[in-house]
Amino acid sequence: MSANSTSVTHPPREQFTGQVGFILSAIGSAVGLGNIWRFPGVAYENGGGAFLVPYLIALLTAGIPILFLDYALGHRFRGAAPMAFRRVKRWLESLGWFQVMICFVISIYYAAVLAWALSFFVYSFDLRWGTDTAGFFVGEHLQLADVGGEDPWFTLDFVAAVLIPLAIVWVVAIVVLAAGVAKGVQRANVVFIPLLVVSFGILVVRSIFLDGAAEGLNALFTPDWSALGNPDVWIAAYGQIFFSLSIAFGIMITYSSYRKRRANMTTPGLVVAFSNSGFELLAGIGVFSALGFLAVNEGVAVDELGIVGVTLAFITFPEIVSQMPAGPVFGALFFGSLVMAGFTSLLSILQVVSAALQEKWGLNRQMAAVYLGVFSGILSIVGFSTTTGLIALDTMDNWSNNIGIVASAIFMCVFVVWVYRRAPELRYHLNAVSTGVVGAWWYACVGLIVPVVLAVMLVQRIINLLREPYEGYDTTYLLIVGWGTVVFLVAGAVLLTLPRWRRDPDVFTPWPPYPPLAETAAPKEATR
Ligand code: ALA
Repeated sequence: MSANSTSVTHPPREQFTGQVGFILSAIGSAVGLGNIWRFPGVAYENGGGAFLVPYLIALLTAGIPILFLDYALGHRFRGAAPMAFRRVKRWLESLGWFQVMICFVISIYYAAVLAWALSFFVYSFDLRWGTDTAGFFVGEHLQLADVGGEDPWFTLDFVAAVLIPLAIVWVVAIVVLAAGVAKGVQRANVVFIPLLVVSFGILVVRSIFLDGAAEGLNALFTPDWSALGNPDVWIAAYGQIFFSLSIAFGIMITYSSYRKRRANMTTPGLVVAFSNSGFELLAGIGVFSALGFLAVNEGVAVDELGIVGVTLAFITFPEIVSQMPAGPVFGALFFGSLVMAGFTSLLSILQVVSAALQEKWGLNRQMAAVYLGVFSGILSIVGFSTTTGLIALDTMDNWSNNIGIVASAIFMCVFVVWVYRRAPELRYHLNAVSTGVVGAWWYACVGLIVPVVLAVMLVQRIINLLREPYEGYDTTYLLIVGWGTVVFLVAGAVLLTLPRWRRDPDVFTPWPPYPPLAETAAPKEATR
């Protein structure tokens, strides 16, 4: 028994009820804000049609291989990230907590964007944003303060239009998490994902029949082949895949730990990966058809419109909605889809933190959901429902994604594959439980391509961030909020490793045995 823990036995692990529930939940996690508001703009800015080449290569060489690595770790070692990594090597628990910390940080701002989408869903019905959608979003809705110069970096001037929907998002998330994996998370996904596919499908079909849709699609898909020679385009493709597929920050490790011991992992993984990319393409088609309509209506070129992230979703899209026939229905479909896609992703992000708390401190899921929800919910409200929320959100998002997730993926490959040489065991595990066979190509991806590409990407990003202040924000602000986020992630990773485990995580035998002995039966789910 470990000296760092007590001998209380583990309760039976929760489980997804079956393959369909797991696949829908994993798709629910992958398909999120990243697909709808990030992908179209990233593709457009990085070579249009030509972007599909690096995107597809990134999916095949990094997305699917790291998804399989996450699945193998979670499914074999039966735990959220800290427990799974600890069972690889004791001190690697810290890497697990690093991933938990990334999820914690993302959850507090991701919920805020969801809250905006919820408000805009309501505003759609009477087109409340009027004719000046930019003025409405930053002025009336966010009541944004001018950060920098004479103005304060942080205020406690709460904005009711953000605070109320944000509180609603947190309460609903706590209730779903408290209900558990099968009765809460899976059930929510089984309801929301089909609904999302239908509502987003209607929106895309409607978009491609709008006047000017062809203009928009030409703008998106006209390939700029010279972009393929630009390393930034490749970096953008790899970056998009990681956030979008919810890999390398604990989510897929946690979800796969709730699958039965004998459960097909690889084929569902391919279904999830291709569904996510399919949805992303669909979003590109829908969004750019609608942008083409707006461009033609206003007599401007598509590239003169705001097509990236927050601007696309909350300034340009409301403008489109105002100008099209039956706009309120279109607006409700768009913002409703954003809410459903974002909420199912938020659940998966929070489940990582909740599961880690349950496992380390022996909390039941209701207690974990309440502690986590109240603590994170308050931070989320204080940080992002005030007049300085947008700048904080943008900064933390950039650092946690572009530094945090990328570093986490590199650490996973370096330590699990290179230092502790567990790749053969993990590949054996996947092949022993799955129908689709993972070939030796997987070693090349997780052992070489991913760490090398990501290391180059990370260095380049750090240099860029040090050279030019991100978005022109105040450098001291970026030091505190941006680099401070990285310090916070690392400090959390170290400190959360120190306390004792309530139940010994090291009393555990992975199944199937490796190296393989005779065929053995899967142990009952009595222990983790
Ligand atoms: N994968 C989720 C998204 O794309 C986090 O938003």
